[in-house]
Amino acid sequence: MLASALDGIRLSIHVLAAAIWVGGQFTLAGLVPALRGAGEGVTNIAAKAFARLSWPAYVVLVLTGLWNVATFQTGQTSTAWKIVLGVKIAVVALSGLSAWLHTKAKTPAQNAVWGAISGTSAAAAMILGVFLAG
Ligand code: HEM
Repeated sequence: MLASALDGIRLSIHVLAAAIWVGGQFTLAGLVPALRGAGEGVTNIAAKAFARLSWPAYVVLVLTGLWNVATFQTGQTSTAWKIVLGVKIAVVALSGLSAWLHTKAKTPAQNAVWGAISGTSAAAAMILGVFLAG
């Protein structure tokens, strides 16, 4: 069945923001070795530039996520769907928290741990979203 115009707009905004938040983290991680080789401080400049895109995308994800939930009627969703939604909301919170802690890391170990949790939880939120969409 073809989506209505409003559903198409809502999901397209949600997926575009997910592409920036999730895909951007993986792309930046892949670029880090080249950025480190390009000179002192280049990685930090790139990370700050990415943050100016990624945090607005995260806000858009939360807002359009709430909009997504509001389009489902009570009784229309199964218990399994509600459980997956609850897990997804927790994973989204972890994704935001770990990304923020990654930016505040003081040691290379903290940087690696929070970066790994941030990337993994962002990818998990995306996968759970695909299951919610059915
Ligand atoms: C890191 C944050 C998030 C990511 C990466 C993400 C990603 C996605 C993706 C990729 C989809 C599938 C779209 C499709 O296949 O058409 C989706 C759907 C969905 N998301 Fe999210 N999402 C995020 C945050 C949220 C939040 C915070 C909520 C709820 C408050 C939410 C609720 C939903 C719902 C209900 C759907 C199904 C929409 C539908 O079928 O109409 N999402 N999400």
